[in-house]
Amino acid sequence: MKITYLGHSCFKIDVAKKAIVIDPFIRSNPHFIESTLEEVKKIDYILLTHGHSDHIGDSIELAKASGATIISNYEICNWLSAKGISCFDLNMGTVVLDCGIEITMLPAKHSSSIELENGNNLYAGLACGYLIKYDNQSIYHAGDTCLFGDMKLINDLYHPNIGLLPIGGRFTMTVKDAIYACENFFTFDTVIPMHYNTFPPIKADPNILKNSLKNTNIEILAIGENVEF
Ligand code: NI
Ligand code: MN
Repeated sequence: MKITYLGHSCFKIDVAKKAIVIDPFIRSNPHFIESTLEEVKKIDYILLTHGHSDHIGDSIELAKASGATIISNYEICNWLSAKGISCFDLNMGTVVLDCGIEITMLPAKHSSSIELENGNNLYAGLACGYLIKYDNQSIYHAGDTCLFGDMKLINDLYHPNIGLLPIGGRFTMTVKDAIYACENFFTFDTVIPMHYNTFPPIKADPNILKNSLKNTNIEILAIGENVEF
């Protein structure tokens, strides 16, 4: 399994000969680098955690260009299906894909809407996180969320060994919240911080995480970097 960081909350996961991209906010990212586009040319699935533009990002263009299926909640899938995109809708629950990859949609505490061209917000279902499991690896992508107590339940039920956690604060968990979650709720071997330093309001220092969680492997990835498990 290979996890490539594509900036903000976007990751590409190569597993079981499939490429899954989560929250492809790529070209509008202020730290965009051209080489990341190469990473998302051949993809099979796009997972969306909620409707905000820094998560839906380039989904429509990428799905059209690659033929990837978008997995998201019912409301976002309805909106995308009407645009001719191939979608697989899910609510909080699990689906096992043909290739054996298990995808579980999990709660996140956040809002979800799509900003329309006329400036109105379209209701876009519940914000979520995802658990992606294959063989003995399971990844928890928390999406945009604050810290919440049911993260302990997520750990008890699914035991994710890799955590992708937001740390930028203001709209999501802070570094302090991520440390609390790792010390009290989760038993991750590896944590990759996300959703920080993209814009000035979500400035955070991921090294604090590294210095505080001595028994967890904290991978601070630059855009385009990957780790293999
Ligand atoms: Ni959001
Ligand atoms: Mn966000």
